[in-house]
Amino acid sequence: MAGTQKGSCAPNGAIFEPFVAEPGKRIPIVIAPSLLSSDFANAAAELARCRRARARWMHVDVMDGHFVPNLTLGPPILAKWSAAEPGLFYDAHLMIDNPMEYAEAFVKAGAGSLTVHIETLSRPRRDLRAIKKLGCKVGVSLKPRTPLSDILPFLDDVDMVLVMTVEPGFGGQALIPGTLNKVRELDLARRKRALPFRLQVDGGINAQTAPLAVAAGADVLVAGNAVFNRDATIAENVRKLREVSEKAKE
Ligand code: DX5
Ligand code: ZN
Repeated sequence: MAGTQKGSCAPNGAIFEPFVAEPGKRIPIVIAPSLLSSDFANAAAELARCRRARARWMHVDVMDGHFVPNLTLGPPILAKWSAAEPGLFYDAHLMIDNPMEYAEAFVKAGAGSLTVHIETLSRPRRDLRAIKKLGCKVGVSLKPRTPLSDILPFLDDVDMVLVMTVEPGFGGQALIPGTLNKVRELDLARRKRALPFRLQVDGGINAQTAPLAVAAGADVLVAGNAVFNRDATIAENVRKLREVSEKAKE
């Protein structure tokens, strides 16, 4: 069953709380800063600022220039980041073709969860289970134009579903409202079937859109530009996102 696993979890797995559909049970909303929008030249300082802001999930966008039209980073850089701030949880979002070729290297580099795109998996169930066996959490993601039916058969095999709320590849885009219908349907499905997967949204999340995503059922909110910007500090931005999200859940 999803949510249980053999062996030890990757670093800081305890930070990853499964979803539980019980009346009155509150699953804390996670604000996950997307490091794509951070200052890569001062990564250690940025990570420390996130830790001090009590944002413990770091969203790490891995892009290969094929699956998405942009390039970012590989395991050696994540290894440096996780060594600099070992108390944080590294949530790797693999926007790459052939993710299975790199999965183990990312876990060794400190990823506590690996999210792969359904569009890149040749045998999804086998691949998702193989990632889980590496000792980390596993997530599955889908692009805005990929139908939800593509991932529905695999909900039992994952710890998280990541609904892309923009076309993957770049930060700073506007959320596509129609993508929240997928979030609604997934939330209903997990409640109906008592499945423990977390529901993550990524792209265009800010103080205006976060409440909409939470109302739709999301409980892990990735935010790049809304966390790393010149308008306010990381701590202020995280606090604001947390505040509006918790309010939307009431
Ligand atoms: C886009 C990435 C996102 C991105 C989000 O492909 O997956 O994680 O950093 O950035 P914002 O929050 O600025 O839309
Ligand atoms: Zn991402």
